[in-house]
Amino acid sequence: MLSAVERKIEQYMADLDERAVKMLYEKLPYGKRLRAKLILKIAGDSLSVIKTAAIIEMIHAASLLHDDVIDEAYMRRSRPSLNALYGNKTAIMLGDILYAKGFLELNSISLEISKMVSGAVVQLSLGELKDVSLSAAFHTDKESYLQMIYQKTASLMEASAGAAALLAGKEKEVYMTYGRNLGMAFQMIDDLLDITMDTKTLGKPAMHDFKEGKTTLPYIYLYEVLGSDDAEKLLSLHKKNLLQEEQNWIKEQMHKHGIIEKSYKEAKELIDEAVLLMNEKGEAELSDIARAMIERSF
Ligand code: FPP
Ligand code: MG
Repeated sequence: MLSAVERKIEQYMADLDERAVKMLYEKLPYGKRLRAKLILKIAGDSLSVIKTAAIIEMIHAASLLHDDVIDEAYMRRSRPSLNALYGNKTAIMLGDILYAKGFLELNSISLEISKMVSGAVVQLSLGELKDVSLSAAFHTDKESYLQMIYQKTASLMEASAGAAALLAGKEKEVYMTYGRNLGMAFQMIDDLLDITMDTKTLGKPAMHDFKEGKTTLPYIYLYEVLGSDDAEKLLSLHKKNLLQEEQNWIKEQMHKHGIIEKSYKEAKELIDEAVLLMNEKGEAELSDIARAMIERSF
């Protein structure tokens, strides 16, 4: 039923009756539609479920349009980002249109769902702000990292699962915990893949987070275990355009000290908890989504 969600988004875009918007939307690379999949698996495929899934995917697309401007990222999902193709102004405005139209439609679903989703978008925006401010300098503050990824990524997945549970008359809290764990683990894996995968597999430049200033969990853990000379060296590479040998040195240190495994384990624990919760509820397909998420390579 994902195709029904795609049709609904296209219909919402067509409602705007603006050729430029239709053309720009067609240039957006489709994502994994993870949030829509979650919603459909939890709540079935009634019209309000399809609408909610479409609205949340539009909000997510808007947030990535803005994020690529903020991160000065020119590639997404193996294709040029919209800011690379048409510049920052166009990317920001298309984000605004998707976001505003999404909210307009959200009002007709239900007040409770509307509040849940808009609350998550506030968190999303605060999380992005925190991501930018944490990127100003190297840091070792794991709690701030965890809070930031909760806000930036997990909050919308938590709200997606919670909204779907409300639509289906299921226990909101259980599904929100599932969505939150999935979102936290998703971002942790994203941050790991930046280090372990190549640009072709990722569809965006590899080893880019550290250059952007982001001290993700593996870098926090690595710094903690390095001796003073190596810790100094790591600090000197922060926010730098890394040479191939410098990238290799970081990867070697990560492997030597078991950092990849340690970070992966942390994400896996969240997924195991999510799987257990869904198994208890007889939601085998939601358990499968969680397992597949942690095994992904892009
Ligand atoms: C990607 O993180 C960014 C997000 C998941 C959230 C972005 C949120 C905003 C820009 C707030 C504004 C929201 C709206 C609805 C307009 P990342 O940069 O770590 O991941 P990436 O490598 O995929 O870019
Ligand atoms: Mg980004």
